[in-house]
Amino acid sequence: MSAPIGVFDSGYGGLTILKELKKQLPQYDYIYLGDNARAPYGPRSFDTVYDYTLEAVKWFFAQGCSLVILACNTASAKALRTIQQNDLPLLGADKRVLGVIRPTTEVLGNFSTSRQVGILGTVGTVQSDSYPIELAKFFPDLKVFQQACPMWVPLIENGEFDKPGADYFVKEDLGQLFKQSEGIDTILLACTHYPLLEPKIKSFLPKNVELVTQGSIVAESLAKYLQNHPKIAQNCSQTGQLRFYTTDNAEGFEKQASLFFGQKIEANHTDLV
Ligand code: DGL
Repeated sequence: MSAPIGVFDSGYGGLTILKELKKQLPQYDYIYLGDNARAPYGPRSFDTVYDYTLEAVKWFFAQGCSLVILACNTASAKALRTIQQNDLPLLGADKRVLGVIRPTTEVLGNFSTSRQVGILGTVGTVQSDSYPIELAKFFPDLKVFQQACPMWVPLIENGEFDKPGADYFVKEDLGQLFKQSEGIDTILLACTHYPLLEPKIKSFLPKNVELVTQGSIVAESLAKYLQNHPKIAQNCSQTGQLRFYTTDNAEGFEKQASLFFGQKIEANHTDLV
């Protein structure tokens, strides 16, 4: 039996990915889950992010999903590999969980001329070193500089992303990144929340620096994946429907979600059981 594709984030950020999935692959059905009650994941330990993410993955499987996208860099960095290697074999041979780091690192090097890229992410993503490790496989000549931006997710989740108060933290963290190297010509927003800060970040960046977001990259990669894995694609239903769930209050989620998704949505609460 076919079922929707599951899309997971700690909160609202994954909606910036879902928006692109819907644009590029509108025929599929999607279930979105934001673990808003326990967000942010960025400062949490590996074990905690793994436990929370595994709970979410099991919830998606209980809804019938065979394919789940971790549309969260922190969960992709801290939980994906263990889930793929240790848990999936027990949860079902036909089940798949994919993340956002691999598809991004497969193409990021193509954007850079100076061969120096900057990665902006949560503390968890940066500490995991997932980006430098993965990028070294695809673009061994690339120099990778990372900067954690711990205040950005709270600013975004609290609606401060377009207010002057965010300027200080954006300038500060970009400054810290360029302090590591002035030769960086490509910056990746390696957190699915950060696209909301894109206009502000751009306003502080030198003109020659390209700012890369992940939504379209992840959507293109998923399209290819589904083409190359027809059996998995067959398990994904195609009636173009979307459903949204949050572990926190549904009304609150609906209000904020449209900022990330670009249109009004209706949400449901779930306790993940
Ligand atoms: N949106 C998530 C990411 O891509 C993380 C936000 C959080 O800290 O929960 O990393």
